[in-house]
Amino acid sequence: MAIEQIWIGTNWKMTKTLSEGLSYNKKIQEFTQSFKNPIKLFIIPPFTSLYKIKEELSNGDILLGSQNMHWEDRGAYTGEISPLMLKEIGIDLIELGHSERRQYFNENDQDINKKVHAALRHQFRPLICVGENKEQKDYRISLEILAQQLKICLYGVKKTQLPNIVIAYEPIWAIGEKGTPAEASYVSHIHDHIRSVLENMYGTSALNVPLLYGGSVNTRNFSSYLENKNVNGLFIGRAAWDTKSFEEILKNIDANFTSYL
Ligand code: PGA
Repeated sequence: MAIEQIWIGTNWKMTKTLSEGLSYNKKIQEFTQSFKNPIKLFIIPPFTSLYKIKEELSNGDILLGSQNMHWEDRGAYTGEISPLMLKEIGIDLIELGHSERRQYFNENDQDINKKVHAALRHQFRPLICVGENKEQKDYRISLEILAQQLKICLYGVKKTQLPNIVIAYEPIWAIGEKGTPAEASYVSHIHDHIRSVLENMYGTSALNVPLLYGGSVNTRNFSSYLENKNVNGLFIGRAAWDTKSFEEILKNIDANFTSYL
């Protein structure tokens, strides 16, 4: 496997005020300082905290992401945030297509595709979220749904742009308070499928695309997901918002790094 790093990140969603975010940040910067391995750590705070948090992350060890972005550089789009605004702050990655954006704000794969191109145009890393819902899983069409999401979200993306793409598989039925954690074997099966869809689209270049898993990852189950070679990292919500459980997960990954590669 060509990927020698493990990506671990958290989307704060609509939690943490600026002061809460700053104290969270201070804690994670402290305990990650002693890490010996290439863990690609990223945090995705709400927009209102990005500028200040970027100042605090001056050494660049922790990547900073935004939870969304409009595809136009400027214009009459009330309430939206443009690539230029994020560029000036120095954002590294742009989370696109989280299921809550799709579910509550009607985002679809075509919108996400436009945002992916805008992100690439401005040298951000698009972190593209895909995942089936419970009904699609029950009808056993998860593989088809995921292939469709990937093909539309990546439509027109060239092989040369692939090194900037990160994919997160986040089954909707596994996310959040009401979610049911996915079996590690199911996640393995899906990640192998995602890799093969990408290989069909891009050939061997697809082997370098980090594939992250997210959905009710916690201190008890995180290591089981990392066992598959096509799971190159984790995208964690609730269990990472609490610095204690996040520290437990990250320290374990650093200590057992090579076994998870
Ligand atoms: P969760 O959230 O870990 O709290 O289930 C995951 C996500 O929405 O990315």
